[in-house]
Amino acid sequence: MNTLGPSLDTARQRLEGIGQDHVLAGAASLSQAQLDALLAQIDALDTDHLPGWIEKYVKGEQSFETPTNIQPAPCYPADPDSPKRPWDKAKARGAGEALLRAGKVACFTVAGGQGSRLGYDGPKGCYPVGSVSDKPLFQIFAEGILATSKRYGAPLPWYIMTSPLNHDATVAFFEQHNFFGLPADDIVFFSQGSMPSLDKSTGRMLMSAPGVIATNPDGHGGAIRALWESGSVDDMKRRGAEHLSYFQVDNPLAGVADPVFLGLHAGAEDSSGEFSSKMVAKAEPGEKVGVFCSVNGRVEVIEYSDLPDELSSQLEGDGSIRFNAGNIAIHALGVPFIEKLATDPAFELPFHRAIKKVTHVNPETGETIEPGEPNAVKLERFIFDAIPLAGRSIVYETKRVEEFAPVKNAQGTDSVVSSKAIQTERAAGWLERAGVSIPRKADGSPDCVIEISPLYALDAEQLAARSDLPKSVAPGERLLLDDA
Ligand code: UD1
Repeated sequence: MNTLGPSLDTARQRLEGIGQDHVLAGAASLSQAQLDALLAQIDALDTDHLPGWIEKYVKGEQSFETPTNIQPAPCYPADPDSPKRPWDKAKARGAGEALLRAGKVACFTVAGGQGSRLGYDGPKGCYPVGSVSDKPLFQIFAEGILATSKRYGAPLPWYIMTSPLNHDATVAFFEQHNFFGLPADDIVFFSQGSMPSLDKSTGRMLMSAPGVIATNPDGHGGAIRALWESGSVDDMKRRGAEHLSYFQVDNPLAGVADPVFLGLHAGAEDSSGEFSSKMVAKAEPGEKVGVFCSVNGRVEVIEYSDLPDELSSQLEGDGSIRFNAGNIAIHALGVPFIEKLATDPAFELPFHRAIKKVTHVNPETGETIEPGEPNAVKLERFIFDAIPLAGRSIVYETKRVEEFAPVKNAQGTDSVVSSKAIQTERAAGWLERAGVSIPRKADGSPDCVIEISPLYALDAEQLAARSDLPKSVAPGERLLLDDA
């Protein structure tokens, strides 16, 4: 039994008002602690907007309207001497390095996702991915941050967005590993928000257990408000950070703070320094990456699930893919831009819906229901929907092998196996450029496994300057170059 009469009545009234009072069906049999927790969940609901969102995103017709005036987004080509668009790489690097030396950059990792496709229970950042060492994703980023901070002689604070589902486990992982050698004060963890998971046909909130509303993280687009509400933006201002180097937790090759990209973002004439992005050329028309487009002259990302086949399969005269600019989810964001959006009461990113299987309980009977088919709508916001809100946004092309080896699936494409192969390919390329001989198989792939810790070298140039490189790598060798 429990005793929260007035608060329970208020919660009931709010839920009745939006047709969601089934949530309280079993409330009488909850313990006091369970009821307190449920009331806190109800209190946090945005009951003003929820009915409208349900009408629009759950019950409404979901059809993506392809914009009419859509073109491929203009990009800074990876090769600065490309006749398509020559640009001054040394100048960009200089500008980025100056920002890093002045401590005006912070890293930002979105790590609140559920990692359901990987089938891994813990936070994805704890997943072992180092091609030889099996170091977890978080450690690889931590080493990159440590090495970058040493290189530029300035702190490089790291903001990590978790979700209520993995926050404690993430923080505990860093504590257990002594923050991977980074100053604990320079890592700021904060949690993103949640959305109730909704029944696909009725829009009713699902219950994950008696007295517990099923929720899902609100998408990485929740980052903008969460950065503000957690006090992280104030923390950045206090530290003097003006730009965020943004990357997803799933990509061990993401450069944690690329000076060239940061320099373009902050200094290029056609950039407002608010929201810039990196892209790679798509591997094939159907690749599951969002695509940078220009719609009425503004850059935006159209997610792979929304880009119609007739656009994704369009080819240029030379046979190349027309909408070719794949989103690798590496961005740079200006801190004032985040503050401007987060403090604007009218700011709202759209939701996208994902239809998923969610195990839940019947609130009246307490019976557990394991759905055979996807039964739930999860509503998520995407950070890249804020790109068109920036004054002028640039896209910079990078090479896939240098920066994109995501771990998303348990097997096949974008799995740990494919990621390790790309990590080795990149390491082999760097070593060859430094004069080290690498054994290769008939298909050209390295006949060895190599991992280069960011502490050993952050890029090919730094690697080539090392005096302790091997002369060659033996066929079948597993080589870890590490300075830890
Ligand atoms: C994402 C991009 C896609 C891009 C691809 C590149 C989206 C919607 N799409 O696809 O355009 O081409 O990466 O790899 O992002 N996350 C949170 N909180 C959430 C949800 C996700 O922090 O609520 C984080 C995850 O931890 C992960 C990242 O966002 O780091 C990506 O999320 P995911 O849903 O796996 O996106 P993808 O489908 O892989």
